[in-house]
Amino acid sequence: MNILISPDLDSLSTRASEIVIAAIRAKPDVVLGLPTGRTPLGLYERLVHAHRERGLDFSRVTTFNLDEYVGLSPDDPRSYHAYMREHLLDHVNIPEGRAHIPDGSCERPGEHCAEYEAGIRQAGGIDMQVLGIGVNGHLGFNEPGASLAAGTHVTALAPETIQANAYAFGTEEHVPHLAVTVGLGTIMHARRCVLMAAGEAKADAVRAAVEGPVTASCPASILQMHPSAVALLDEAAACHLERLDFYRHQQRTWEALADRL
Ligand code: GLP
Repeated sequence: MNILISPDLDSLSTRASEIVIAAIRAKPDVVLGLPTGRTPLGLYERLVHAHRERGLDFSRVTTFNLDEYVGLSPDDPRSYHAYMREHLLDHVNIPEGRAHIPDGSCERPGEHCAEYEAGIRQAGGIDMQVLGIGVNGHLGFNEPGASLAAGTHVTALAPETIQANAYAFGTEEHVPHLAVTVGLGTIMHARRCVLMAAGEAKADAVRAAVEGPVTASCPASILQMHPSAVALLDEAAACHLERLDFYRHQQRTWEALADRL
């Protein structure tokens, strides 16, 4: 995994936006896999800004979101549908039919997952999968113990995820216990993966993901097996990494060689 450390979430968000914007400019019909949560808010803000101020065109971009809570309808303000509308979709020109988010209110979640997975395949697969990470190392809602090879599926949420996401629901009791998530197998088929992690609360999960064994106990560790994964970290999220000095050295070397590699 390529490790790039930024001083804080702001500069990390700028770096992430530069990567996503470059992907859209290089391939206007790019297929993006997108996360929710607090970490990517600055990324979405910068993408909206690039659309408004720099003419970044999303008209041929296709997006597939990673996950959604089971039981929430797309117009529920706590749903990831609402989150995506608020932070990205209402502000850029992605045609409605090209923005895909799992439907947590569907009657047959199993069938819906299979259709969602088929939709990703029909779109030609995900070119760039942007990811956050849970405090327990989850990707999307692939919790510890998840299959490292699964496609889109229904999953139970781990207690620590329910606790971490309670802020959006008022109290823990109101957090749904099930979710639809794109699986780790699908994530691993993406051509590039961009993991974003900020804050000290993520430092242990980041260390396990980057330097620990590849294990379902830390789902994000599967990215060590990905041929083109980059971890964008802020200083706080990187602070438990054992080989931090080496990653910094490597980063300086890459930055110096950037136009020759
Ligand atoms: C949520 C989402 C994940 C997200 C993670 C981190 O549970 N399902 O896709 O990456 O938690 O969220 P945050 O960025 O708010 O820390």
